[in-house]
Amino acid sequence: MTRTEPAADGAADDPRIARLEAEASVLDDADPLRTHRDAFVGAETSLVYFDGNSLGRPLKATGERLAAFTRDEWGGRLIRGWDESWMQLPFEIGDAIGRGAIGAAGGQTIIGDSTTVLLYKLVRAAFDAAVAGDPARVEIVVDRDNFPTDRYLVEGIAAERGGRVRWIDVDVTSGVTPELLREAAGAQTAVVLLSHVAYRSGFLADAPALTRIAHEAGALIVWDLCHSAGSVPVEADAWDFDIAVGCTYKYLNGGPGSPAFAYVASRLQDRLVQPIQGWMGAADVFAMGPSYSPAAGMRRFLSGTPPIVGMLAMQDTLALIGSVGIEAIRAKSVALTDFAVRVADELLVPRGVAIASPREADARGGHVTLSHPAMRSVTARLWAQDVIPDYRDPGGLRIGLSPLSTSFAETLAGLRAVEAALPAEA
Ligand SMILES: Cc1ncc(COP(=O)(O)O)c(C=O)c1O
Repeated sequence: MTRTEPAADGAADDPRIARLEAEASVLDDADPLRTHRDAFVGAETSLVYFDGNSLGRPLKATGERLAAFTRDEWGGRLIRGWDESWMQLPFEIGDAIGRGAIGAAGGQTIIGDSTTVLLYKLVRAAFDAAVAGDPARVEIVVDRDNFPTDRYLVEGIAAERGGRVRWIDVDVTSGVTPELLREAAGAQTAVVLLSHVAYRSGFLADAPALTRIAHEAGALIVWDLCHSAGSVPVEADAWDFDIAVGCTYKYLNGGPGSPAFAYVASRLQDRLVQPIQGWMGAADVFAMGPSYSPAAGMRRFLSGTPPIVGMLAMQDTLALIGSVGIEAIRAKSVALTDFAVRVADELLVPRGVAIASPREADARGGHVTLSHPAMRSVTARLWAQDVIPDYRDPGGLRIGLSPLSTSFAETLAGLRAVEAALPAEA
C-alpha cells in the first residue's frame, strides 16, 4: 500500500475513507511545511513512519555532512580539528538548540552525554545545592509515570545522598497537573523532576505553572524535554526554568544514540557542582593540574571528550528549525495529531480502541497513544508491512507524528493499516 492509494479491501467504496482521503489531501495541499518532507531520506517510499518521536528520520543533507566531515575535517585536519572547531561544538550547537527549540539565550545550553547521564549529573548537582541551602530539603519529587530512566536515577541519587523520593501518582492517560504538584512539593522538597511531554500519553504539562509551583515551594526544577525539543515550543528563560535536559535523536533527528543537550540557567551555573569530574569540565582543560577545579559557566557540566561525530546530524535539523520556526512546526504538529484523533475516532474507536492521550490539542505533545489489549501483536504485524509505530505497555500503540517529515496522507494510510491489523473480533 502506498500513502495515496486506496487499500485493496473495497475501501474505495467506503464513503468514510473517501471523505478522510479528501480531507488528508486538502490538509497536505494547505500545509506550509509540506515541501520539507522531501528533504528526509525515505520520504519517497511507501513506508509509514510513526516513530519520529523515538528516532527521527535522517535528513538527506546529513549523509553529505557526515561524508564531508570524514573527508575534510577528521581526515584532513586530524587532531588539529579540536583546536580549530570541535572544542567549541558542544557550546555552538547547544546555543543553536537554545535559540531554535527551547527559548534559551546563549551560554546556557550544551551538548553533553546521554540524557540519562546528563539528568543524573544535574539532578544530583541540584539536590546537593538545595541541601547545602537548607538541610531539611531532602526530597526529590517525580511522578510514577515518568520515563523509566528519570525514575531510576532519582532512586539512585536519593540512596547515594541520604535523600528520599516523593512519588506523584498520575493517570497514565494524562500527566502531572498543577494540583498534583502543589500537594507533593513543600518545605522538604529539594528538586522536582518532570517531563514536559509524557512519553506514554503525550500529555503536555503546563511547564510555566509547574515551574512557579516548584519555586514557590523553594525547590529547584529539572525539566525532561525529550519529547518536546523540536516539536513543542519551550521558553526556558521566560518560564524561569532552572535546569532542562533533552534527547536529540527524536524530533532533532540527531541519529541513533546522538548526545543529549542540557540547559542550566545562568544564575545557577556556578552554584552547581556535578559529580562526574572529568578533565573536560575542569577550569583549565590542558593544564592537566593535580586536582579538579570546575570551569566557570556551562563547561563544568562536561566530563570527558565531547562526542563530536554524534553532534553532526542534528545541525541539519537545527538549520531547518531556524528557517521555518518552532511555532510553524507546532502548528503542523497540532494539525497532525488532531487529524489522527479524528481518524481514530472514525475507524478505530468503533473497533474497541481507546484514545489514551489528551483530546485537547493544547494538552497534547506530538504523539497520540491508541490503546487496545491486542496492540503488541498489532505492532508486530504493522512492522512487517513497513508501518512503524511503537508499543508501550499497557496496550499502547504510540503514533508519533514528526511534523517536518510526516504528511496527512501518510497518517491516514498508517491508521488504516492499524484498523486492518486489529484482530477480527475486535
Ligand atoms: C522522556 C525520556 N527521558 C529520558 C530518556 C533516556 O534517554 P537516553 O537513553 O538517551 O539516556 C528517554 C529516551 O527515550 C526519554 O524518552
